[in-house]
Amino acid sequence: MVNLFEGAGARAKNLQQGRVRGAKPLGGATAAVDAALEGAITRLIRAGEATGKWGEQTLIHSFGRLPVERILLMGLGKPEELTLDRVRVVAAEAARALRKIGARRIGTIVHGAGAGGVNPAQSTQAVVEGTLLGLYRFTQYKTNNDHAKAIERVTIVERDPKRLPAMKEAVRRGRILAEAANAARDLVNEPGNTLTPAELARRARAMARAARVRCEILGPRELRRLGAGGLLGVARGSQEPPRLLVLTYRGRRGGPHLGLVGKGVTFDSGGISIKPAENMEAMKGDMAGAAATIAATCAIARLGLPIRVTAVVPATENLPSGTALKPGDILRAMSGKTIEVINTDAEGRLILADALAFARTRQVTHLVDAATLTGACVVALGTINSGAFTNNQAWLETVLAAGRAAGEKIWPMPMDAEYDELIKSDIAEIKNTGGRKGGAVTAAKFLQHFVGETPWVHLDIAGTSESDKEKGYQIKGATGVMARSLTLLAMEMLEK
Ligand code: BES
Ligand code: MN
Ligand code: ZN
Repeated sequence: MVNLFEGAGARAKNLQQGRVRGAKPLGGATAAVDAALEGAITRLIRAGEATGKWGEQTLIHSFGRLPVERILLMGLGKPEELTLDRVRVVAAEAARALRKIGARRIGTIVHGAGAGGVNPAQSTQAVVEGTLLGLYRFTQYKTNNDHAKAIERVTIVERDPKRLPAMKEAVRRGRILAEAANAARDLVNEPGNTLTPAELARRARAMARAARVRCEILGPRELRRLGAGGLLGVARGSQEPPRLLVLTYRGRRGGPHLGLVGKGVTFDSGGISIKPAENMEAMKGDMAGAAATIAATCAIARLGLPIRVTAVVPATENLPSGTALKPGDILRAMSGKTIEVINTDAEGRLILADALAFARTRQVTHLVDAATLTGACVVALGTINSGAFTNNQAWLETVLAAGRAAGEKIWPMPMDAEYDELIKSDIAEIKNTGGRKGGAVTAAKFLQHFVGETPWVHLDIAGTSESDKEKGYQIKGATGVMARSLTLLAMEMLEK
């Protein structure tokens, strides 16, 4: 596939009409393909069929003039509007379009690295990420369908040999990042009956082993010894025993130690405070935070980054039963704090309280948690931005930078002390809900009770962990959100 900027057509037209003398209408690879096709692209431009508009696709047959059967000309939009995220999107949409028409082997140039002025290695990484993310499918449970259509090989074409070493490294990075997000997607898409807490632990262990990451799996006995009242409390309603997963990667002895905590509720029915039936099936994805932190830890290890990472995942189901947690119950968390349970559907914060406290016992210097925590965050930010809450502005800036580099939008939310009033309990230290008002903030405020002075960012991904439509490099279903951002976060920390 090649590309066309919006406006390149106008230049071609002007040239045609003799207004611009000596100007080259088309850039690099597009011009070369145009020449090989005896001006086919120039003619399409002149006819107004190819304009270079963002999102435009024009399929051209080569009829033997090139050693490829077809050329897909992708509109890149206005050069000044080109971003790395657009490169990801254009790569994803092109790869999917070509798969749809039965192509098995495809080749591409790195978009924007010529006339677009984008750094060739960065564009390469974005092309690889976009292609692998865009081609993702969850076919585990489809017995006989048309998955015969699959891309087998993607070739990146580059003329300048001096660019190759950096581009090869960029391919490796792009691949690790996209595979991390796709691994997270696989976990999130997996249904609750197969992905139980124990199964999540087994999968995390397999992923960790492949990435040479250490993996500890704690069960009910160890959790009782630790006094993990939050996680044990939520797990009480379920027949499936809870797990606490601890992944450790030591890329270096000293320096910063990144703690990642991910909510791992493998199915959230709400418990005794049961949810309405409508859309309850989506609650199999209530472990998207866990998926992102596990995948990111393994990706950081695969990249061999010189940093220490500890990921902590509390995994449980949230179900109603005769032994389940009840509204009014009081729990004692691992830190010793007492919690009055007002609503058993606010279970995420109960298990995260223990996981955050546990991460601190491992001497992490920086903390990030990712959790599908509140419907209120979805109301506030929709499905576009994840919400960010912090006790440390500088650390938040680093996390925001990582999100920008990944093309995953994150929006800072307030954390004023006044919100603390809402979660004060009459009989325990805190209660697990603060009412409907400011629900995303009071959830974050609850978590803050368990992070002490450690710089911490809480990412509420309730709205961003799944996509209801195919768009760009997003596929309907799990997005794998934060797997790439959290990986890039380790890189951001090393740059500082
Ligand atoms: N897992 C849910 C939050 C959620 C909602 C995630 C929608 C994804 C999409 C969480 O455990 C929950 O139930 N939160 C409650 C909290 C309330 C009871 C204070 C909520 O948001 O309604
Ligand atoms: Mn819930
Ligand atoms: Zn939940």
